[in-house]
Amino acid sequence: MDKLTLTQPDDWHLHVRNGSVLKTVIAHTANQFARAIIMPNLKPPITKVNEALNYRSEILQALPVGTSFNPLMTLYLTAKTTVNEVKKVANSEYVHAFKLYPAGATTNSDAGVNELKSIYPILEAMQQVDVPLLIHGEVSDNACDIFDREKVFIESSLANIVKTFPKLRIVVEHVTTKEAVDFVLSASDKVAATITPQHLMFNRNAILAGGIRPHHYCLPIIKREHHRLALIKAAISGNPKFFLGTDSAPHLTSAKENSCGCAGCYSAYAALELYAEVFEKENALDKLEGFASFFGADFYQLPRNKKTVTLQRQAWTVPASYPIDNETITPLKANENLSWKL
Ligand code: NCD
Ligand code: ZN
Repeated sequence: MDKLTLTQPDDWHLHVRNGSVLKTVIAHTANQFARAIIMPNLKPPITKVNEALNYRSEILQALPVGTSFNPLMTLYLTAKTTVNEVKKVANSEYVHAFKLYPAGATTNSDAGVNELKSIYPILEAMQQVDVPLLIHGEVSDNACDIFDREKVFIESSLANIVKTFPKLRIVVEHVTTKEAVDFVLSASDKVAATITPQHLMFNRNAILAGGIRPHHYCLPIIKREHHRLALIKAAISGNPKFFLGTDSAPHLTSAKENSCGCAGCYSAYAALELYAEVFEKENALDKLEGFASFFGADFYQLPRNKKTVTLQRQAWTVPASYPIDNETITPLKANENLSWKL
């Protein structure tokens, strides 16, 4: 097969930042995707509907002229989130979900929630008005080994949230372990998960073997091979609980290649191509469209896209970097060859 035509996909987990980074990365995303769920972890975080609307305008203004792209906004859930704000989200055409970060779990998560039980009244309100909860599923406890943080979060917090709010739609974002896949599989159809390209492509050797590779460092951290295999199995299963969410998270090269490098992989420049590589290796290209273009839209109760996109089999080399002002962003798979091109 040398050509693959799909319904245009959407990215159900994306970081676009603001300023000049936004301008570069949004063009990449809009070139591929019709819509994307925009993460609210700016500095300061987006916690109110009116802030999300302003951020949405900023994103639309940053788009290259003539591009159509629909940013689906989210709010950052904090200890200060009110039931009133939940109702505003339910009535908003542009804000689609709340994102929950355990405090300190990842980049710009200082405003996250410390005591999850304290936000149960807010989750109750979200359940009532059917606003989805997107979860960064990791404990932020420094005493917990970084490779165990997702598994421990599921046992210590997520299981109880799912049990207490059986009608709340929940996306367990960027699942990285077999335990997370099994948890999502065992839960009702209200519980789904996104899967990133890096967690499908790499195991933890890609970060640590033969030298430290900061561009493979993201959170939740990439795990052992048997976890990667479980993620692959889920992604290519055709089960609508699992859909595309790149977690493309741009950081300047100088912030990644640093004695304390920050977390996040930049994949938006060729997200669909990266997933296509993975699905092709598994002989599962026929399962890509459901994963990339249907299941997320269905879960968010949004219409599937009407347009199509076509991937061509074409070898090309990923650039070493993309310029941003006087700095750069280094993409995932920089200088490596990919075999599909949109
Ligand atoms: C994300 C970022 O940089 O905003 N980083 C990451 O490693 N995934 C934050 C996040 O989604 O955890
Ligand atoms: Zn993210």
